[in-house]
Amino acid sequence: MRLSGRRILLIVGGGIAAYKSLELIRLIGKAGGRVVPVLTAGGREFVTPLSLAALAGERVHEALFDLTAEVEMGHIELSRSADLVVVAPATADLMAKLAGGLANDLASTLLLATDKRVLMAPAMNVRMWEHPATRRNRERLAEDGVLFVGPAEGEMACGEYGPGRMAEPAEILAAIADALGPKPLAGRHAIVTSGPTHEPIDPVRYIANRSSGRQGAAIAAALAARGARVTFVTGPATAPRPTGAEVVEVETALEMAAAVEAALPADVAVFAAAVGDWRPVAAAARKIKKTAAGPPALALAENPDILASVAGLAQGRPPLVIGFAAETGDLIGNATAKRQRKGCDWLVANDVGDGSGIMGGMENAVTLITAEGTEAWPRLDKREVAERLADRIAAALA
Ligand code: CTP
Repeated sequence: MRLSGRRILLIVGGGIAAYKSLELIRLIGKAGGRVVPVLTAGGREFVTPLSLAALAGERVHEALFDLTAEVEMGHIELSRSADLVVVAPATADLMAKLAGGLANDLASTLLLATDKRVLMAPAMNVRMWEHPATRRNRERLAEDGVLFVGPAEGEMACGEYGPGRMAEPAEILAAIADALGPKPLAGRHAIVTSGPTHEPIDPVRYIANRSSGRQGAAIAAALAARGARVTFVTGPATAPRPTGAEVVEVETALEMAAAVEAALPADVAVFAAAVGDWRPVAAAARKIKKTAAGPPALALAENPDILASVAGLAQGRPPLVIGFAAETGDLIGNATAKRQRKGCDWLVANDVGDGSGIMGGMENAVTLITAEGTEAWPRLDKREVAERLADRIAAALA
């Protein structure tokens, strides 16, 4: 597991986002890591020490001068025994304290005393985040080597809109893994295609499909977390863009093909996009109107097969080319034939039939098809599928 045996000192600051730190503890635990929670006085107003302790399976540290705790483990030792210090939510106050070198409570003392890296997930009102003082502090902290994840933009608990919302727990987990993880793909370049394509019929209509882009984004993030330089070529997907990847936004299959070609050479190319097989021969320049003559006939042209053309490159073919196959029947038979037809090394096949909930959903049940045979993976969260695949890619390129 990604965080096996790693210890995270988690400082929970005072903010409404503190409730998300409970989910973060659960995710870290699922990834094999251990959490030692530290709760600030402000944090205590939002989550209870009992919930933190129950989820972490560890006692919660709160007071700077706690005689019992000092006998068991001094606060200096506490700050050093972790592999990473994570502050989530990181309030404007906590950021200011560390930027200014203050140490007047347990959390700020640990932050100043630690010899480990610090990762902050800021969460605050948008005005507070944009205040010159907070900006100065953020810059100062970044210069001092503090890592940041988020904040995200969105509707906030206080009713305002803008940057200031704490990153989602899954994103923080990825940042933790990134900060701690081995980098087996350092120096490698990966291209990942993702999302649907939109093939315009006229200026307001297009042909699309149900792909959310979630699986592709998760793969890009997992490869980036392992140190790869990732070019993420995405159609108009609803899934959030992956952190750590260079994002190239495209709309049509033709644009996607051009973007992939421009991104070559690569060590690995993963084609997770649900590319439209056909496009209207010529998109109408103006909106097509209803007429008495009835519906217009839609003449279609076939799009280039991006996967097949990259897999078939005589020169500059990435050493590892991975395709996806969305099937609605005879999964193994169709996908095995597709792997050969497309000339890719691996094919990740999934059954997207009615009722599977996979296309556009959070989970995926895939079968990995290689020249050696087939391997059915259990139904997993798309992020976990991405982690497994990224580990396999790292092993194959080692
Ligand atoms: N693909 C691609 N370019 C296309 C069509 C598909 O790169 N124009 C890639 C997809 O990203 C995926 C793989 O090919 O990795 C398989 O896509 P799929 O839609 O399952 O296969 P098709 O070629 O469309 O075959 P069919 O529709 O006959 O099942």
